[in-house]
Amino acid sequence: MYLEKIELKNFKNYESENINFSDKINFITGENGSGKTNLLDAIYYLSFTKSAFNKIDENNIKNDTNFFSIRGNYKVDKKSISIDCKYKKNEKKIILFNDSPYEKISLHLGKIPAIIIAPNDSDLIRNSSYYRRRFFDLIISQIEQDYLQGIIRYNKIIKSRNLVLQKFKKKKYVDRNEIEHYDDLLIKLNHYIRNKRSEYLIEFKKKFFEIYNSITKEKHEIEILYKSKVEKSIENDVYKKFLEYDILTEKTNFGIHKDDYLFYINNKPIKTFASQGQQKSFIISLKMSEYYIISKKLSLNPLMMLDDIFDKLDNKRIKDLMRFIKKKIRGQIFITDALNDRLEIFNSKKYNINLIKIKNGQINYDKK
Ligand SMILES: Nc1ncnc2c1ncn2[C@@H]1O[C@H](COP(=O)(O)OP(=O)(O)OP(=O)(O)O)[C@@H](O)[C@H]1O
Ligand SMILES: [Mg+2]
Repeated sequence: MYLEKIELKNFKNYESENINFSDKINFITGENGSGKTNLLDAIYYLSFTKSAFNKIDENNIKNDTNFFSIRGNYKVDKKSISIDCKYKKNEKKIILFNDSPYEKISLHLGKIPAIIIAPNDSDLIRNSSYYRRRFFDLIISQIEQDYLQGIIRYNKIIKSRNLVLQKFKKKKYVDRNEIEHYDDLLIKLNHYIRNKRSEYLIEFKKKFFEIYNSITKEKHEIEILYKSKVEKSIENDVYKKFLEYDILTEKTNFGIHKDDYLFYINNKPIKTFASQGQQKSFIISLKMSEYYIISKKLSLNPLMMLDDIFDKLDNKRIKDLMRFIKKKIRGQIFITDALNDRLEIFNSKKYNINLIKIKNGQINYDKK
């Protein structure tokens, strides 16, 4: 599977551009602020229906205009596919698959699987559990549409239940019927999501350990643990037990929305005990394992976007990383780098790279 061509209109700093890609490695260069990451973000939009960096669609419209549109032409198993994403201020976002709109946008997820490695991935280690849940949820969701729909449903129910809790607290009364009708549904969904998360982690970890050990020379003991209050079997009255506390706090305190994934190095939390380099290796291993598991389950190679990954690496590490990427990623790759010279380091002829140069949101590309 690969992206042949993308058309951008009023997307971030692009006014109107058509860009062709090679099905192998596309190397995107340009000065800081020229639009390299924005181009990856447009590709990301067509896979995930939102930005990887700015969740508010309106912020991705080019300044002083009132809509953006992105169109991608793909080849999947020799068949041509087109995806469109259009957003106009104050209107609903539209996603088209071969020119026909989805009834529900979420049904698009998994059609064009993709992975991005970007500087803000450090959130996975440094930030709240939300980022880790989202990382693993996006893997499972790209593979299993039912899982995504389960998560969406779960979040909606929690939102409604929390509103009821807030009302109870404010009005100082409790209507048990009103709150208890959520219990059975929530228990079922908790059970389903918890089991999927734990199942996938087992498979994920097998690959993860292998990849981590192949990209680091030193031998560390690393571990990922799934931490959930939700046990394999859930007591029927779990929500009744929590009710008083839920009303006091005006939110639902039990459930998979509280899950976390714990990352360890040599039996200590990676956030506080790993060096920056070790954290970087950990994150690249997470993403490479994501690539592996998605390509295996869906029997196709996801698009791989690598934003600024060579930054701060010395020449030897850049060469090693490039060799590793070439060996492990069989599908299409997009690499951004502000330094055009980096191409010399890893002998771009050997890798048959399509070079794309950007200047202030405008592009000219040639073979190199
Ligand atoms: N909605 C928007 N309208 C117009 N320009 C925008 C919009 N959003 C972002 N930009 C501009 O896009 C530019 C940033 O582009 P991008 O992040 O793609 O740069 P980059 O080439 O990746 O740079 P770096 O090498 O620093 O990572 C900034 O100049 C920013 O002002
Ligand atoms: Mg950038």
